[in-house]
Amino acid sequence: MASPKPVRKAVFPVAGMGTRFLPATKAVPKEMLPVVDKPVVQYAVEEAKEAGIEQFIFVTGRGKHIIEDHFDHAYELESLLSAQEKNRELDSLLEGLPVSGSVSFTRQQKPLGLGHAVWCARHLVGDEPFAVLLPDDLLIGVPGALAQMIEAYHKVGGGVIIAAEEKSQEETRRYGVVAPGKTSGNITEVKGVVEKPEPKDAPSRLCVIGRYILQPEIFGELDRLEKGAGGEIQLTDSMAKLIGRMPFHAVKTSCERYDCGDKVGFLQANIAVGLKRPDIAPALKAILKGIEY
Ligand code: UTP
Repeated sequence: MASPKPVRKAVFPVAGMGTRFLPATKAVPKEMLPVVDKPVVQYAVEEAKEAGIEQFIFVTGRGKHIIEDHFDHAYELESLLSAQEKNRELDSLLEGLPVSGSVSFTRQQKPLGLGHAVWCARHLVGDEPFAVLLPDDLLIGVPGALAQMIEAYHKVGGGVIIAAEEKSQEETRRYGVVAPGKTSGNITEVKGVVEKPEPKDAPSRLCVIGRYILQPEIFGELDRLEKGAGGEIQLTDSMAKLIGRMPFHAVKTSCERYDCGDKVGFLQANIAVGLKRPDIAPALKAILKGIEY
């Protein structure tokens, strides 16, 4: 097998309305809500950087400009912190900054669905493989989820690679569910994906989560702008059309996943990440022990 083209670009669709988090997300994008002390979108960017991604493409929408500001210098703040010799705080600002010229923004003018958001990035992606990271899905682990997926991509070749997680039968109704072929280690061949099935009809318990590696052929399918479930242009529908035309695999990563688009998942992420942080864990543990419920 010829070695597949490297994955250099990542698309971050961040144009959703975040209705599950209102009123918090009325003026603040949900991707900017913090898990401990970092906005959720920054974890996804760090994961992509660790996986070797060189170009970070954000698909934003109205009211999301603070995401752009977050990945830019904040000169007044930086010079103030520098003058006050608050070096730790200053470093925390600077270490999250992508290299100049490596970040691009495009707008999805209407939130017509995830497939449409990815399609909005077509000119910035061009004719090469790319990753898609949904920042809502916070994946914590070493190596990071995208790095594990890229490793799998180099083993099985081009096509589509999706991250998947084993869920309970009942939970399958909330996810895209994989119709599985052969499994080798953490990689399962994908024969089909069923969007939000009734649990009794789910073809497996392997559910698609928010990380993808896609070939540019996906844009040929997304170009049709066909609406699917919920009247939205679904990424899954276009991926499903590529099955049979190119290899399609699901990768189970060893990462922990938190659904930060959901209130309970977001609280769980804050507690779990807080418990991993040596500066916070002792106080947090003491508080959690004292809570009666
Ligand atoms: P979600 O469906 O979780 O996001 O989409 P949402 O629509 O903002 O959430 P709720 O249900 O209203 O609370 C998953 C990802 O796809 C992006 C979202 O920003 C999120 O990162 N997305 C979704 C877009 O960029 N555009 C869309 O039209 C839809």
